[in-house]
Amino acid sequence: MDTLTQYLEQNRDRFVEDLKAVLRIPSVSAQPQHRDDVRRCAQHIADRLKALGMTRVEVVATAGHPVVYAEWLGAPGKPTALVYGHYDVQPPEPLELWKTPPFEPTVRDGKLFARGAVDDKGQVYMHLNAIEAHMKVHGKLPINVKLVIEGEEEVGSESLEKFLRERRRELDADVIVVSDTAMPSPDQPALTYALRGILYTQIEVTGPAHDLHSGHFGGAVQNPANALALILTALRDGDGRITVPGFYDRVRTVAPEERAEINRTLNEASYLAEAGAPAPFGEKGYTTAERISVRPTMDVNGMWSGYIGEGSKTVLPSLAAAKVSMRLVPDQDPDELFPRFEAYVRKMAPTGVTVRVVNLHGAKPFLCDPKHPMLRAAVRALERAWDKAPVMAREGGSIPVMDTFLKTHNLPSILMGFGLDDDNVHAPNEKFSMSSYHGGTRSVAYLYEELAK
Ligand code: BES
Ligand code: MN
Ligand code: MN
Repeated sequence: MDTLTQYLEQNRDRFVEDLKAVLRIPSVSAQPQHRDDVRRCAQHIADRLKALGMTRVEVVATAGHPVVYAEWLGAPGKPTALVYGHYDVQPPEPLELWKTPPFEPTVRDGKLFARGAVDDKGQVYMHLNAIEAHMKVHGKLPINVKLVIEGEEEVGSESLEKFLRERRRELDADVIVVSDTAMPSPDQPALTYALRGILYTQIEVTGPAHDLHSGHFGGAVQNPANALALILTALRDGDGRITVPGFYDRVRTVAPEERAEINRTLNEASYLAEAGAPAPFGEKGYTTAERISVRPTMDVNGMWSGYIGEGSKTVLPSLAAAKVSMRLVPDQDPDELFPRFEAYVRKMAPTGVTVRVVNLHGAKPFLCDPKHPMLRAAVRALERAWDKAPVMAREGGSIPVMDTFLKTHNLPSILMGFGLDDDNVHAPNEKFSMSSYHGGTRSVAYLYEELAK
């Protein structure tokens, strides 16, 4: 065993403790009451990076949450990797469904349970561990590294674009490395070459100026909840096709070979078992694997209206609202689709209500060349760490900054992530399998070496 691998083996337990420390900080970017925690988390990571020997460590203020920046440029003539990750996490609610509290990280059965364990603090810490190992064993890194760890990924990365534009020259690099994706099974590594984009909206339907007695007024005025139901029903047909005019105009057809490859990678039985849904459902004419990678979606994420307490209350609500998101695929564009969506929602609304449609955030889909030579270093690193060649994968999730990176830096990208389908990402009991954490740390340590070759 080489000295680097040995160091990683010997320090496994402490790597877990280091991760637990950052997981105790509730850096929930969406919730204003956690603003200071988000800042404290940024500072915690910056302090750790300083201790590792990174230079120019900064906590950079933005209009929103801060960005952590750190660099180490002591390998002249070697490539520079721009490593991106996020330290913010999704809200932990509903709290009562967690077996142990979300910000009290606990290892059970070889898995570390906490909000942010895999998304994305655990995956950010794989890079910190790899940096530590190289520094301790060799006194230096094999390549130059620029780290950008942001605090707004889970709310759409609004402030990051400005940061990347302002520092475009300073952040110049040869390759972008991101560890914020998944792999198909615990022993099958993957490189992701596509992500879906997103358009996230809110529909608000208002009717009467205030709630009304449903006997005194029912039948005489339009009910916003019924009206919202009409609108939402109109968004998809019975075959799971989205009915917004022009929605599919820019959707690329996928070549038969690529479809075959996509269908080979997903273990559909275990994937569906994980969902716990009574039956699969999706767009007619496509497999489950295709529905979650190369096809767009239209989903209600939440809705509210009227009386939802115990028992009954006879009332016509004055407001009904829903959060509706669309996952987008190449070459769909959220800016182009929003006006079409809005117009269609208005058209489907019955008379007697007022409709407001809000664009909460959007991100373009991401697609890169799976055969790019830069990816060979990542393939070699994963082969070394897992004794198995990685599969090339298209993921259903979104990382908004990937498209911004294309605009600001236009570099080849390595998306090397280690999440699993049953990690409960964004849900109660999020976890990171510790074998994935250590395998991921090894992979990143080897990636830095392979990029130097
Ligand atoms: N790490 C995920 C993205 C992801 C999930 C990629 C699963 C591949 C597989 C990221 O943190 C995330 O959750 N992104 C949000 C973006 C949104 C808030 C704009 C998403 O996909 O919902
Ligand atoms: Mn993430
Ligand atoms: Mn996430």
